[in-house]
Amino acid sequence: MSTPPQTVPVESRVSLRTLNTFGLPAVAAHLVRVRGDADVRRIVDHPKWGRANKFVLGGGSNIVFTHDVDDLVVKVEVPGLRLVRETADAWIVEAGSGEVWHDLVAWTLDQGYPGLENLALIPGSVGAAPVQNIGAYGVELQDRFDSLDVVDLVTGRTVTLDAVACNFGYRDSVFKRHLLGKSVIVRVRLRLPKPWQPVVGYLDLERRMAETGNHAPDARTVFDWVCAIRRAKLPDWRQIGNAGSFFKNPVVTPEQCRDIIGRDPEVVHYPLPDGSIKLAAGWLIDACGWKGKSIGDAGVYERQALVLVNRGNATGGEVVTLARAIQESVYGRFGIRLEPEPVVV
Ligand code: EPU
Repeated sequence: MSTPPQTVPVESRVSLRTLNTFGLPAVAAHLVRVRGDADVRRIVDHPKWGRANKFVLGGGSNIVFTHDVDDLVVKVEVPGLRLVRETADAWIVEAGSGEVWHDLVAWTLDQGYPGLENLALIPGSVGAAPVQNIGAYGVELQDRFDSLDVVDLVTGRTVTLDAVACNFGYRDSVFKRHLLGKSVIVRVRLRLPKPWQPVVGYLDLERRMAETGNHAPDARTVFDWVCAIRRAKLPDWRQIGNAGSFFKNPVVTPEQCRDIIGRDPEVVHYPLPDGSIKLAAGWLIDACGWKGKSIGDAGVYERQALVLVNRGNATGGEVVTLARAIQESVYGRFGIRLEPEPVVV
């Protein structure tokens, strides 16, 4: 006797405008919300939806929709925040991938588990954090990573991945490559090392220390500083739609850097431990005169040229047109190809 197929609560023709931080218009032909492993398995086992192409959507903070989505949108809403264990040298915390990233940061501090404060106010969900290997003010997700659980979209099995399997890079991971669309991240575990030590080597934080005279800030103070710095130069997507930095900071060889310094001696650059040099893409875009400019309703943010914004009714097409125009002018002036950070759909 065969068991009847489980029902999967699929919604039809769902607007994605409020489900992406850029606020771009797009419609999902079908969308299903998942709150745990069993929900994902029900989709995989379903005779119709199991075979459908899937598009996994987290907090929608790193995506540019240029058209409607025909695939089944799997909206990740897995809840939960807990301490898994405390050892002599770390707290291991676990969060459901549908939790808001900043809420996790605030919760860990409230519980007395410091270590994520430099990553305060980064938009998006917990599940999106490893996809992007989010980073800010001297800390990247991979520096605090323990492991994560995914449900495979073909077998329906839950698998645990460690940092090696995630293959983290600068704003990059296996989830942007081999595992793109193949699995759903359901839980992320972070390792917050003891004893806690502040990470305050980033220029903006050094400036705060000098201004306040506080050279030994506690985690709450670093959190407050990071929130203030971000609020001053990055727009709140609830007020002005955006996807954070639109381009990655390009990494070049010392020879390429010398060539660029020849074109403009002021170029902002940072030597990396491996001898290569990171250039500030925001500076390159700013130097090409893009700050505050727009194409249609897609614009370059006035206070940080690396951030593209939605001035009201931008379409994904306008964002992509603006991004291409910026890429061309930076290439023309500096010979550098800027690579977008968000996924363009
Ligand atoms: N700059 C300009 N003009 C601009 C923007 C920047 O001259 O319009 C100069 C700044 O003065 C500074 C340098 O460029 O000297 C770097 O700017 P900033 O310190 O603001 O950092 P960023 O390189 O623009 C990166 C990350 C951010 C992260 C901050 C802080 C990338 C692509 N971006 O920005 O991450 O919050 O550092 O660590 O790596 C994100 O990825 O979405 C993101 C916001």
